[in-house]
Amino acid sequence: MQNLSVNGERLWDSLMEMAQFGATPKGGCRRLALSDEDKAGRDRFVAWCEVAGCTVSIDRLGNIFARRPGRDNSLPPVVTGSHLDTQPHGGKFDGVFGVLAGLEVVRSLNDHGIETEAPIEVTVWTNEEGARFAPAMVASGVFGGAFELDYALGCADPDGKTMGEELERIGYAGDMDVGGRPFAANFEAHIEQGPILEAENKTVGVVTDVQGIRWYDVTVIGKDSHAGPTPMAVRRDALVGAARMVEAVNGIGLGHQPNACATVGVLEVSPASRNTIPGEVYFSVDLRHPNGDTLDAMEADLHAACEKIAGEAKLEVTVEQIWDSPPVAFDAACVGAVRDAAGRLGYEHRDIISGAGHDAVYIARVAPTAMIFVPCADGLSHNEEESAESGDLAAGCAVLMHAMLDRAGVVS
Ligand code: GLV
Ligand code: MN
Ligand code: MN
Repeated sequence: MQNLSVNGERLWDSLMEMAQFGATPKGGCRRLALSDEDKAGRDRFVAWCEVAGCTVSIDRLGNIFARRPGRDNSLPPVVTGSHLDTQPHGGKFDGVFGVLAGLEVVRSLNDHGIETEAPIEVTVWTNEEGARFAPAMVASGVFGGAFELDYALGCADPDGKTMGEELERIGYAGDMDVGGRPFAANFEAHIEQGPILEAENKTVGVVTDVQGIRWYDVTVIGKDSHAGPTPMAVRRDALVGAARMVEAVNGIGLGHQPNACATVGVLEVSPASRNTIPGEVYFSVDLRHPNGDTLDAMEADLHAACEKIAGEAKLEVTVEQIWDSPPVAFDAACVGAVRDAAGRLGYEHRDIISGAGHDAVYIARVAPTAMIFVPCADGLSHNEEESAESGDLAAGCAVLMHAMLDRAGVVS
């Protein structure tokens, strides 16, 4: 059992095949949640799972569960999975690795003729990224009890299309209830998306915690007016005010070191005409820190900075929090199963806190959960150039398989 391995080449080939769905000219992926590309990727995953002997079910949010039976199917399953949706300029590995590592576990158990005591399930969680429909991790969030089903179905993209409508359109509005059934354990494998493992030459990150994330919508109101006749002194230029606020957000990140992050990722200017002073600007804010009290302080700084700048520039501003994902500590026994598996398999490893959000954050509310990280090149993610070594991905997958077997039990 100790030497049981996975097929790293098959895992790599599946990753490369999935990357064809929404492939971008720069070698990345654009597979936005519930798009045609997402449907194609889902269809391929379901087909692979059925060939591997799994039974596939789909819930009302399009979350996919591929089940490999165990000896005792009355036991709750040991679950693994992640997401297939990507950022607009996404890579081939973020999320996809966790899904296809789960599939590779199933395929390897088949190859080795291993029967588990409890069933195993591989999941695809819908719309992890939040890039098309905010907030992120919303479908695993409903499963974990953080959001209501109707809230998630009603989340709309910038064109006003809702998740509910798009699930129907691509044929992934299943009939199974979302959540309400136990998992014995949940493991999510993922690339680190940061530089620590690579810098320290570690093959595996044993993820103990995930930092907190808060998202805000900020709207700045000034006054549309003519770019020629309106003197500089009387303008109410929403973009000039917003530019100072964006700088202030960056300053909030810098001001709460170590570990704080603060980002503006979306900026929309209205009416977006060369010769009209912008009367309205929308921008997004993403604040992160492992400590909830520090996030409170960062949030207070955000409100104070926006109000001060708006007052000075004769503008109005609203700052609305649209998402709060508190810091999470994973289950000690599941974290231990990952650490032990990495040690037993002889991989260099270290404990690590995740800077990114993951579906595991919300599943941790309803099931004992942990995560496994592997390095990615230059710590780069949410970028078309995102890349990872085949050997590291196989190592993470092997750790995943052994941690799952630890929890599921093997029929001897
Ligand atoms: C998910 O990709 C996140 O925003 O951390
Ligand atoms: Mn991800
Ligand atoms: Mn991501």
